[in-house]
Amino acid sequence: MMRNIFPDKLVERIAAKTGTPVYIYSADRITANLEAYRKAFAPAGPLICYAMKANSNCAIAGLLARSGAGADVVSGGELYRALRAGFRPDRIIFSGVGKTAEEMAFALRSGIRFLNVESLEELELLERTAARMRLKAPVSVRVNPDVDPHTHKFITTGKIGSKFGVSFAEAGRLYSFAAASGYLEPVGLHFHLGSQIYSARPYALAVSAAVRFIRGLEKKGIRLKYLDIGGGWGVKEGEDMPSPSALARIAVPAAKSVGLELILEPGRSMVAAAGALAVKTLYRKKSGPKRYVITDGAMNDLIRPALYGAEHPVRPLVKRPGPPVRLNIAGPVCESSDLLASGVRLPLPSRGDILLILSAGAYGFAMSSQYNSRPRAAEVLVTGRRSWRLIRERETYRDLITKEKR
Ligand code: LLP
Repeated sequence: MMRNIFPDKLVERIAAKTGTPVYIYSADRITANLEAYRKAFAPAGPLICYAMKANSNCAIAGLLARSGAGADVVSGGELYRALRAGFRPDRIIFSGVGKTAEEMAFALRSGIRFLNVESLEELELLERTAARMRLKAPVSVRVNPDVDPHTHKFITTGKIGSKFGVSFAEAGRLYSFAAASGYLEPVGLHFHLGSQIYSARPYALAVSAAVRFIRGLEKKGIRLKYLDIGGGWGVKEGEDMPSPSALARIAVPAAKSVGLELILEPGRSMVAAAGALAVKTLYRKKSGPKRYVITDGAMNDLIRPALYGAEHPVRPLVKRPGPPVRLNIAGPVCESSDLLASGVRLPLPSRGDILLILSAGAYGFAMSSQYNSRPRAAEVLVTGRRSWRLIRERETYRDLITKEKR
């Protein structure tokens, strides 16, 4: 079970001040998660590159940057955020299957540690970009080790047939191309198997294939520096991050065996359990046998239940008397899939009651939108037992149209 990092009184005060819906994060929990990674991987002293996509708020990224983490970015926008948040450029890596020449140039200009390349055409463009800038681009190749992580199909990436990475055979050609180029320096090998992975076994399979491949590269005279095993360590909704020590037991000896520095890209596990979405009960209604609680938070704020069928636990702030009943927690958006939770058993909340949707720190705000012209929620960082600060203002109606022309 999850420790309560959001005392009722504190949430009440925050909601009263900022209104709802509001995302609330615990700074202590985020740094504790980083520490848990450090401790588990201590013998290797890896570079822990926080996957910004999970939650890229500047305050959260800044907290991790100050704590010595690096960043994994997948767009020019994320690179911009990472630099602004204070991550040292040599602790930033750039992943993603479709970088543009502009994004590549931005990364090279910024002096990041390396770019993870995912196709020959991308590598060729990187070479041309580096040549134009008269520098040598540090590259790592993302291999697709064809391992099934047994997770949701939308977040499985390390199987052949997905758009991600290249086969080992293809990777061999990419490394040879890079090694022969005056503008490319092959420095790493990368894989990312998927997200919400609960077992170390897929990593074990991928790591051993990677080690064999790296030995083969050495025979060809190509010596790498980094083994980047991506992110993906899962956290069940409603639970704390499981210790990543099982992962460390596999990755640390493997990296040592080939003399490479280990790089990790955790996203979800760093922030998921550290965040919750507070919403307010607007109305209760019945539709045949089904009971609905309509809240002021919706799928535009948290899309994971609608998109992946994710089951985020719901914690009411006020404990109403009465037996638990089956409830569907829905928002005001005009879609049947607009559910924050379906079939949860709770005493019927009263109008105005605050509900906390737990485990919403990762891919919550980051995937939010203005769908139905709903201004995006506010975000708050809890920094002590009673202290907190606003880290993103609630958007206004004006924000909805600022970029539009009549
Ligand atoms: N590295 C790369 C290259 C990635 O593509 C990802 C996530 C990560 C690291 C971080 O993975 P994590 O540790 O967070 O599992 N929106 C989905 C998750 C998508 C993950 C995409 N890639 C969700 O809400 O479950």
